[in-house]
Amino acid sequence: MKIMKGVHLIIIKRNMKVLNLYAGIGGNRKLWKNVNVTMLENNKEIADVYKRFYPLDKVIIGDAMDYLMDNFDKFDFIWASPPCQTHSKMRYLASKRGDYKPKLPNLHLYSLILFLQHFAKHKKWVVENVNPYYKTLIEPTIKLDRHLFWSNFGIGKNKFEKPEVKHKKVTGKTIRYGFDLTGIKLKHRKDQLIRNMVNPEVALHIFDCAFNKGSLNVG
Ligand SMILES: C[S@@+](CC[C@H](N)C(=O)[O-])C[C@H]1O[C@@H](n2cnc3c(N)ncnc32)[C@H](O)[C@@H]1O
Repeated sequence: MKIMKGVHLIIIKRNMKVLNLYAGIGGNRKLWKNVNVTMLENNKEIADVYKRFYPLDKVIIGDAMDYLMDNFDKFDFIWASPPCQTHSKMRYLASKRGDYKPKLPNLHLYSLILFLQHFAKHKKWVVENVNPYYKTLIEPTIKLDRHLFWSNFGIGKNKFEKPEVKHKKVTGKTIRYGFDLTGIKLKHRKDQLIRNMVNPEVALHIFDCAFNKGSLNVG
């Protein structure tokens, strides 16, 4: 780039614009620094808890898919954690035992991936879910921790420490990844919010893969 004599080039580094879809209480968001985050959550009570932890984030209570379709182009990085219950192996086995009514798998998971693959090629995006009880309809980019990830950049393998309290043993009083819900009054089951969280270290690793370390475009 040619710069005229006497003209100073000022590069202003702006914060990355991040869209955090199906945000829950924000486990995945915890270690992202220097970001402007907009979050989508359709449960107001859960969104209010998120707001306590991240008062500077823009909180939108609404449908993640609707928002994505209208706004995906405004962000540098998109993270989506759609609900996993209807894909989960544990839930499937429990349904077979008669503990739950069997439910159709929610294929919004795949709508999201297809939409992002075709309309958001110029953005960095990642969709997270559990390892399902069936063969995935779209091959994931990687399995990390206990989750599958679909993304348009390479994600390196990595090892993460397991939480102290096992998944099955989590209660509303469990403090996981530094999130403590004990003093917060909620109608929603706290143990579920805690179990739903993505390990912040995993989400940081993925964020770093998208922008810094060894990012590799895959489609
Ligand atoms: C798997 S949890 C997200 C966990 C979160 N990524 C974390 O690390 O803490 C999915 C969240 O999506 C919310 N949700 C479900 N359907 C939604 C929709 N259509 N639009 C927005 N949020 C939705 C649920 O209330 C739930 O809190």
